[in-house]
This record gives sequence, C-alpha cells and structure tokens, in this order.
Amino acid sequence: MNNFTYYTPTKVIFGKDTENQVGDMVKAQMCKKVLLHYGTGSVKRTGLLDRIKKSLDEAKINYIELGGAVPNPRLSLVYKGIELAKKEGVDFILAVGGGSAIDSAKAIGYGVANEGDVWDFYDRKRTPQACLPIGVVLTIAATGSEMSDSSVITKDEGGIKRGCNSDLCRPVFAIMNPELTMTLPDYQTSCGCTDILMHTMERYFTSKGNMEITDSIAEGLMRTVILNAKILAKDPKNYDARAEVMWAGSLSHNGLTGCGNGGNDFATHGLEHEIGGMFDVAHGAGLAALWGSWARYVYKDCLPRFYRFAIKVMNVLDNGSKEEIALKGIEKTEEFFREINMPTSMSELGIHPTDEQLKELAHRCSIAAGGSKGSAKVLHEADMLAIYKMAL
Ligand code: NZQ
Ligand code: ZN
Repeated sequence: MNNFTYYTPTKVIFGKDTENQVGDMVKAQMCKKVLLHYGTGSVKRTGLLDRIKKSLDEAKINYIELGGAVPNPRLSLVYKGIELAKKEGVDFILAVGGGSAIDSAKAIGYGVANEGDVWDFYDRKRTPQACLPIGVVLTIAATGSEMSDSSVITKDEGGIKRGCNSDLCRPVFAIMNPELTMTLPDYQTSCGCTDILMHTMERYFTSKGNMEITDSIAEGLMRTVILNAKILAKDPKNYDARAEVMWAGSLSHNGLTGCGNGGNDFATHGLEHEIGGMFDVAHGAGLAALWGSWARYVYKDCLPRFYRFAIKVMNVLDNGSKEEIALKGIEKTEEFFREINMPTSMSELGIHPTDEQLKELAHRCSIAAGGSKGSAKVLHEADMLAIYKMAL
C-alpha cells in the first residue's frame, strides 16, 4: 500500500426534508451576506428555490441570488458572479443544484478570495490561496462536487474546459435529500450514475499498488451503483435506489476509494473534458462513450486490475485466460451502459469529430494533463488520439 492523505471537512445532512435545515446550517456559518447560486431553471420549476428562500428568511439570512449556471458551467457567469459578490460584500456561497452550479460557486469563491484572473487557476498558471466558504443543497447525484476538491469550468471562447483541484473549495456542508433527484430526466439520472461509477473506476484502475480495504470499498460501491442504476432506469421514483446512488456519488469522489492505491488514472475524464468543452455534451454520457475504447487500449498494461474488476464487479466467471476475462469485464461494462441508455461511442453520443478536431482534442488533452496522463497506462498525445479514433 501507498501513503495517503484523506481530508473530508464536509458536514453531510442526508435524507428526506433535510433541505428545510438550510437556514440553520447557513446561520451557523456566521456570515454577513450569502450568494444563492443555481442553474438554469429546475430549482424554480420544482419549487425548491422557494423552500430554500423561506428557510433562509426564517433564519434571517441576508442573501442575493444569481442563477444561470449551465451544464459545463461557463467562465463568463463566474466573472459576473465575482463582480456581484465583491460589490455586495458576499462572504458565503450557497449552491443549489448539481455539479455545474456547485463548480461555478467554487470558481466564484476563488475569484472573490484571490486577486487577479480566476482563469489562471484553471489554466494552471497560479494556485489559489483561499476560497469563500461554500454550502450545497444537491439536486443530482453525479459529480461528487458536494464533497470534492474539484471544480471544472469552461472558457466560453474556444470551449476550453479545465479543472482546478484544491482542498480550499471543499464545501463546509452538503444537504442531500434523495427525493430532490426524482424530478431529473432519466437521461441525467443515467449520466449521474455513470459519472459516480467512473470516479471510483478512475481510482481503481491503477498500476501503482493497492490496499485491500480500499479495493473492497471500491468494489462494493461499484456493484451498488450498477445495481441501483438499473433499478432507476425502470423505476425512477424508487427512493432507496436514489439514496444509494446519492451517497455513493459523494463517497466516490471525496477521496475514499483512492486511499492507499497509489494513483489516480483519470484519463477517461481528461479525454471527456475535451469533448465536453468542444461539443458541450453531458459529462456522464461523454465518459460512457469513451470508456470502452480507453479500456481496450490500456487493459494489457493493467491486467491484474481489469481481471479483478471483471470477476468482483461484473460477475464474469473465472473461466479462461486473464486477458479473456478482462475483455469480458469490459464488454459487460458496456452492456451495462447500454442498459441504462448511455452511449458507448462518440457517434452514439451524437458527435462526429473531423480528423482535424480529433487531433485538436488530443492536443488539448495532452496540454491540460501537462504532457501525459494515466496510472493504468501512461498516455501521451499519440495514445490520446488513438483512443479518440477508436471511440468514433
Ligand atoms: O440547470 P438546471 O435547470 O438545474 O438543470 C440541470 C441540468 O440541465 C438538471 N437538473 C439538475 N438537478 C435537477 C435537474 N433537473 C430536474 N430536477 C433536478 N433535481 O440536470 C442537468 C445537469 O445538471 P449539472 O449540474 O450540469 O449536472 P452534473 O451534476 O452532472 O454536473 C456536471 C458538471 O460537473 C463537472 C462536469 O464536467 C460538468 O461540467 N464535474 C465536476 C466534478 C467536481 N467538481 O468534482 C467532477 C466531475 O468529474 C465532473 O467533471
Ligand atoms: Zn466525473
């Protein structure tokens, strides 16, 4: 096993009606003014925003609001939020929504708490030194941003999507009521389940060692997500299945499933972020479209893990060579994606990059990664291009 640091400062309030505690949760932060930040309309349509405001009013919280965080949240709105928050003296941000609203809130938090252009942190030119405290009311189980150290923003010009990682942006609290996710379109539920699964897979497929306790947690989490994603594809109002995937979403990306196993791969994420930036696709669907091609490209370099995954997670019979079993595990994972209506190629995702665009995607991916990426297998620009081509 490898040394590790595990840091999860987020207080989790989980279960039915918990959003009504938001006023008290914010009050405990002793802040002067709150920026209430959300997406493009679902929180209004569902009545959640009104309930949040009522709770804030009852707790006598002073707040202003800014909606409009789109999926693949844009830098332009972040700039707008920073200006507004500075002008109004905001010292706490409450994000109500999914990864996009939360990530946008985190970026605004960086922009207010640091001098200079906030994009520098996403462009890896500088490291943030502070962030405004962030609270979350989660409406979709997916990214784990409610507990993660990550924020992913897309620069409007050129569609450049980049992440910034720092413990500074980990939310101080996350309110999670699985019932709030029942208004999601089925496609978004499946995208979320795919992302949750992938956050653990990105940590599991490593060639840098392992730790049995972490592997067992990871395998349990992956089995749970697969089982409950299938249940939700048929029965979207199933509360218990909603709750299972919601908690899995947080645990899958708060660091737990990577403790001691020596290295994140995150190559599929790196590849997806580029198609998300260029073609504005849903993150989870983009991951499903690329994963199989990535897996077939790298599995021989990480055979023990692919073999173990096939047996312990995808229930492949231990009958044949390790390579055959590993490949069956990959096939069964793609079958699962299809079962929950996720794409397994870029054409199924609805995008058809030209040769020039494929080269540009690989180039951007390698630049974002600082030249190379991966732990199952280290990928360089030529490898990235080969995987994009396989995923057409
Ligand atoms: O904008 P609204 O109207 O709220 O609609 C959203 C959006 O269209 C809708 N939605 C959310 N909750 C709903 C709902 N509709 C009905 N009922 C509800 N309860 O669903 C759509 C997707 O929402 P979004 O917030 O974009 O989804 P997600 O949570 O998947 O976030 C995706 C973004 O997070 C990034 C992704 O790259 C992408 O930009 N990621 C962030 C990470 C992190 N911060 O740790 C890690 C991830 O790997 C990922 O990269
Ligand atoms: Zn993700």
